[in-house]
Amino acid sequence: MNDRPAMQQPDRKQTILTRPTRSVGGRIQVPGDKSISHRALIFGALADGTTDIQGFLPGEDCLATMAALRAMGVDIKQSDTTTIRVVGAGLQGLAAPAAPLDMGNSGTAMRLLAGLLSGQAFDSVLVGDASLMQRPMQRVATPLRMMGAGITTADSGHPPLTMTGGQPLHGIEYKLPVASAQVKSAILLAALYATGRTTVIEPAVTRDHTERMLARFGYPTRHAGGRVSLVPGGRLTATRIDVPGDLSSAAFFLLAGSIADRGELVIENVGLNPTRTGILQILKRMGAEILVASPGAIDTPGEGESSGTIIVRPARLHGIELPTELVPLAIDELPIVFIAAALADGQTVIRGAGELRHKESDRISVMVNGLRALGADIQERPDGAIIQGGALSGGEIDTGGDHRVAMAFAVAGIAAQAPIRIIDTANVATSFPGFIRDAGDIGMHLETVDD
Ligand code: S3P
Repeated sequence: MNDRPAMQQPDRKQTILTRPTRSVGGRIQVPGDKSISHRALIFGALADGTTDIQGFLPGEDCLATMAALRAMGVDIKQSDTTTIRVVGAGLQGLAAPAAPLDMGNSGTAMRLLAGLLSGQAFDSVLVGDASLMQRPMQRVATPLRMMGAGITTADSGHPPLTMTGGQPLHGIEYKLPVASAQVKSAILLAALYATGRTTVIEPAVTRDHTERMLARFGYPTRHAGGRVSLVPGGRLTATRIDVPGDLSSAAFFLLAGSIADRGELVIENVGLNPTRTGILQILKRMGAEILVASPGAIDTPGEGESSGTIIVRPARLHGIELPTELVPLAIDELPIVFIAAALADGQTVIRGAGELRHKESDRISVMVNGLRALGADIQERPDGAIIQGGALSGGEIDTGGDHRVAMAFAVAGIAAQAPIRIIDTANVATSFPGFIRDAGDIGMHLETVDD
């Protein structure tokens, strides 16, 4: 069982070709937030009543979560790609899936569902694509086992994850060894099925979408001083979720608007949860001209997700020492910071970002190799890189199948002196379906070819 191979993936490869651009501008919206979309489906499925989700991200990662919940008997209707109705099955209403659940490329789907499935009466298995089958799962299996879960990984600590049903769970107090919202969320999901209080202690602030959404479904957690506690025995009540645009997707265009020579870009309805906005602070420290206008109101503090309009204009960027406390608040945007640094004046030091080695690819090594291929002066460090800013040439990049690496280099193509050929980019569809079209709408010159 432990040597089960990755699920078969369709053989789809795609190359993006860039051409330099001078002007980037216009008014756009980006697709819905990935983290919030996963959670809206999961908590909608566990609620009593019918949850309506607007602005859902129809990316492959969230569709994997949707397919898994459907395989466990949850009735999910999709009236159009972004409008979803989840008929809640209640906390005890999931049914045994007939086959292993394929999480595709999504670490979030796998880790959150590992927590949820640890509390069920039935057995289950989680698998994924070649990248996901190489990602660390001990970080989630260890605390779940401490709660009493019957969960195994492959000997390497990688998937598949196998959960034995019917294990009584008990609450724990657990200090996360790494700052991870996925692990925190997995533990909180299992805690819904445990006896006694569960407390998760975070070494640094991580995204709090799970806590906000639990509150939104009428199941508040208690948090203070980096500790989040959940007491079992409650129930989730269906609600309406408006998913704002994903700041992690908007961030590619924030870089685009900054490194262009002219134009003004307005991105509407972007999520501005303060546990996600590190990239705004980082780019501003580098000299970017970014303005956040009309932040949307949150109905009830701690419950909703705020959103607003972001305006970006070209600016001369300069290198910085990245403050390590901003790393977890911008963890998915660091590929963008690598590109910004390579085009900035002076030196940028990225430290405390070793977690990047465990994402959809080893993002430190893939970004270092990619930037070197474009002539950048960059030194790799175990937990980051030291980058001397300058010009980028054209060249060929291998993304290692990583969606965010692909999009970061596509944006680099705006300012590179010659075309960049970015290979293995089909996974852009995991988080940002329509990226090529939206990039074209703001003036970027991208072309795709099948390879
Ligand atoms: C996510 C948490 C982050 C992030 C991922 C989404 C989430 O991972 O990188 O893209 O939705 O909880 P970690 O919490 O493991 O750092």
